[in-house]
Amino acid sequence: MRHFLTLLDITPDEARHILKRAAKMKRQLKEGKACRPLEGKTLAMIFDKASTRTRVSFEVGMYQLGGHALFLHSGTTQLGRGEPIEDSARVLSGMVDGVIIRTFAHDNVQRFAEYASVPVINALTDTTHPCQILTDVFTYEEQRGSIEGKTVAWVGDGNNMAHSWINGAVTFGYRLRIACPEGYCPDSRMMAAARALGADITLTHDPLAAVADADLVTTDVWASMGQETEQAEREIAFTGFRVDARVMSYAKPDALFMHCLPAHRGEEVSADVIDGAQSVVWTEAENRLHAQKGLLEFLMA
Ligand code: CP
Ligand code: NVA
Repeated sequence: MRHFLTLLDITPDEARHILKRAAKMKRQLKEGKACRPLEGKTLAMIFDKASTRTRVSFEVGMYQLGGHALFLHSGTTQLGRGEPIEDSARVLSGMVDGVIIRTFAHDNVQRFAEYASVPVINALTDTTHPCQILTDVFTYEEQRGSIEGKTVAWVGDGNNMAHSWINGAVTFGYRLRIACPEGYCPDSRMMAAARALGADITLTHDPLAAVADADLVTTDVWASMGQETEQAEREIAFTGFRVDARVMSYAKPDALFMHCLPAHRGEEVSADVIDGAQSVVWTEAENRLHAQKGLLEFLMA
């Protein structure tokens, strides 16, 4: 029994296996062929935060895999009224075959996983968003081939997405260049841990330096869920960190642009970039379904 709380919970070989299966299942789906390895299995989906892509992709993914998904908004469960995470983990483990959790503190998913006897998947915490990086690597490789040795530029907040790109540099072997304003850098311990595992990661405060010759440019909102009250001060702090056509012009001519979405046009990304020819954000969003089906099969079949 395995959990997927960060990318470091699976080996590079396992990640490769998941993406290979995801590609095969995507092809089969487009050809109208059924693939139902999770027949009779149920996934509980606990959400403490809003979601469009994650909720829909896991729910549709379970259906296509032959199983069933159960949406549990914390506000309408006893968890939301203070029933301990440890108790909820043991109760749900008796009835379902897997659990995904989107919550605030990363410690919540760790505690849930510790007491669960079924696989637990991190569907985003304040600290990481590993399912998205699995998808983003899948999407890059679909378009451009292996990401190993390629340069990924992260421009913006040192947030949950940035942290998962850091872990992904260990798993997938890309070079990661991060540009963040001072005071908004990723967790230095996570960077140090990834470097100790061989990841090539550099941190700068200059977006153009990070993007120079990059194969993939990516960003995310300046204020994540739970940081809404910081929006105004963050807009000031992130001045100069918008990914616009000038920033993209420093990357390789065939560089791709990605954003996990939802995006704020005119803030972290200009409309001409996100809606432009280098952007693959719609394929990236669709691929949440395919990449996570690979993950669900790996953990639950
Ligand atoms: N990218 C992502 O996780 O989107 P949702 O918040 O809509 O799930
Ligand atoms: N960093 C964003 C990602 C949303 C998918 C957030 O946590 O709100």
